[in-house]
Amino acid sequence: MREQTYKGIIQKYKKFLPVSDKTPVITLNEGNTPLIYAGYLSKLTGDNAEVYLKYEGANPTGSFKDRGMTMAISKACEEKAQVVMCASTGNTSASAAAYAARAGIKCIVLIPSGAIALGKLSQALIHGAKVLAIEGNFDVALDLVKEITKLYPIVLVNSLNPYRIEGQKTGSFEICDYLGDAPDFQIMPVGNAGNITAYWKGYKEYQAQGLSTKLPAMLGFQAEGAAPIVRGKPVKDPETIATAIRIGNPASWKSAELARDESGGLIDMVSDEQILEAYKILAEKEGVFAEPASAASIAGLLKLIDKQYFKKSKTNNKFKIVCILTGHGLKDPERAIKTIQAPKVMPADLKTIIKEIGY
Ligand code: F0G
Repeated sequence: MREQTYKGIIQKYKKFLPVSDKTPVITLNEGNTPLIYAGYLSKLTGDNAEVYLKYEGANPTGSFKDRGMTMAISKACEEKAQVVMCASTGNTSASAAAYAARAGIKCIVLIPSGAIALGKLSQALIHGAKVLAIEGNFDVALDLVKEITKLYPIVLVNSLNPYRIEGQKTGSFEICDYLGDAPDFQIMPVGNAGNITAYWKGYKEYQAQGLSTKLPAMLGFQAEGAAPIVRGKPVKDPETIATAIRIGNPASWKSAELARDESGGLIDMVSDEQILEAYKILAEKEGVFAEPASAASIAGLLKLIDKQYFKKSKTNNKFKIVCILTGHGLKDPERAIKTIQAPKVMPADLKTIIKEIGY
């Protein structure tokens, strides 16, 4: 067998990560995800910008969480942990369950009952995690996990675990490596706010090492019904169809604000309607299927284009905008089918079908 050259983000970026030769690397070869040029969306900017999509749905469990989880689980194993635990709107639990399975350790997840997408639930279950659906939302689940992991020898693998942030920052390294420099703007969804914290950390470190010359403005988007940072206060009963970011009291609230302010960016919100519109545009015009929370990036892009936000370039150079698509569309197949009409049932008859096609 030919030796595989790419072995995941720890191997690729170890000099930027808190690992040593003693760290057992638990990897599914995560990272190295496509940065896809988006022609349709670039045109919508009036050709003032090149828009790129960082397709994190191409990670092994279908979301960006794998970057952080390879670090969190590897470090947990280095520390001889036997049990890890997280609260999750779905993707963290899918990723934690997969990496814990690979490491041969136990994984416990608390999810808000009835509020996570089917694909994510199926992942956590099939990887053998102990999945507990609690009668409460993500914020309540996270508070419980924080308490339980303080009381028992269980490692918390939510993004409050600093190794998660370390792993996730490699997304920004890849973007810089691919573009040859940092982009001018980065747009991403904001939920518990770990990822915006991680990307910003990554961009700053790359620049400090002389591997990029500039820093992007960080543009974060929350869902209107779950927009505590935008509103300046926790939201008690967050609601949005983008269940991944249905969070009312983000753990990394302060560092998200810091990323926003240090970078000269913004954190704004988009409605469920705008998210679903963007979700369809992305799939129909760019051929990219991302889950609704990820489409918040594109809804944000469209909102800013409408406000002529990107028309300020002093030079003639086009801006580079990178939108992070955090999770795969197949995570939430029910939403796709609800958004578009289910297929029409037809008799298995050639003439009827040809007539229906329109010939
Ligand atoms: N997009 C997707 C698909 C997510 O699953 C999440 C978070 C986010 C965006 C927001 O990232 O929390 O770092 O601001 N999902 C977590 C989970 C909360 O439990 O899977 P964030």
